[in-house]
Amino acid sequence: MTDTVLVSDENRVRTIRMNRPEKKNAITRAMYSAMAEALETANGGDTRAVIIAGTPGAFSAGNDLMDFMEAPPHIGGGDMPPVERFMRALMACEKPVIAAVDGLAVGIGTTLLLHCDLAYATKRSVFTTPFVNLALAPEFGSSQLLPGIVGRVVASELLLLGEKWDAETAAAKLLINKTLPEDGFEEAVAEIAGKLAGLAPGAVQTAKKLINTPPEDLTARIEREGGLFAEQLRSDEFKEAATAFMERRAPDFSRFG
Ligand code: COA
Repeated sequence: MTDTVLVSDENRVRTIRMNRPEKKNAITRAMYSAMAEALETANGGDTRAVIIAGTPGAFSAGNDLMDFMEAPPHIGGGDMPPVERFMRALMACEKPVIAAVDGLAVGIGTTLLLHCDLAYATKRSVFTTPFVNLALAPEFGSSQLLPGIVGRVVASELLLLGEKWDAETAAAKLLINKTLPEDGFEEAVAEIAGKLAGLAPGAVQTAKKLINTPPEDLTARIEREGGLFAEQLRSDEFKEAATAFMERRAPDFSRFG
């Protein structure tokens, strides 16, 4: 943890907060490293859900531009730069990750949403990936993922024209799940994370893994699901879920994972 990235654990939910408000949470190499560490260590231990947040009004202004000039990262080009370590950790995170966007989400602040499981934003949030405006290129799979989510011509509004989307547009285009009121925003996201944390952890991780498995032949997918379904049927988690149903009580998954 550094001053510019705060990591806290509460009720099995890990919150990773970018905390450099004076620079609108522009992300430095040290911040990427701290966030990578927090995500990597979430895989062990009893964390059941992760929230990535910023500060009021600024989720992130993107990569620190001074850092970009001082140490231009070359993704896949040898030594792994901190930004790549962070994004790999995000993609490899076995626990569900929720983005809580309140305010500006610029560059990687928007790109990273494509690798989160759920994303919520306040109405004042603005999303933009101004790579073309900066004479740069899309990053971390966004040129493939975004067209897959919003459609090719709509993705071009962000990636080619460098447009800004307000939160309602981002929700309508399915970049985020939905907008939430500013008042009580963090609490509302914490409640969603708490819901995830209360579910059977093995089942949650299995669903996440399947959702993120690249497209394959449907029969292969059905068999892959079938194997995992059979595994879950034999699990203590399922025993608890079934017993709770018979006993007409809420299941208690707190002793698992
Ligand atoms: N890298 C480094 N510093 C940044 C930054 C970034 N990506 N984004 C903002 N900052 C700094 C500003 O230089 C300023 O620093 P200063 O107070 O020492 O002068 C401070 O953060 C506040 O930014 P400011 O521009 O005054 O705030 P604003 O609310 O008027 O605008 C932004 C906010 C994000 C729209 C604007 O700062 C901006 O366009 N930033 C660059 C975003 C970007 O291109 N990101 C990289 C994408 S690859």
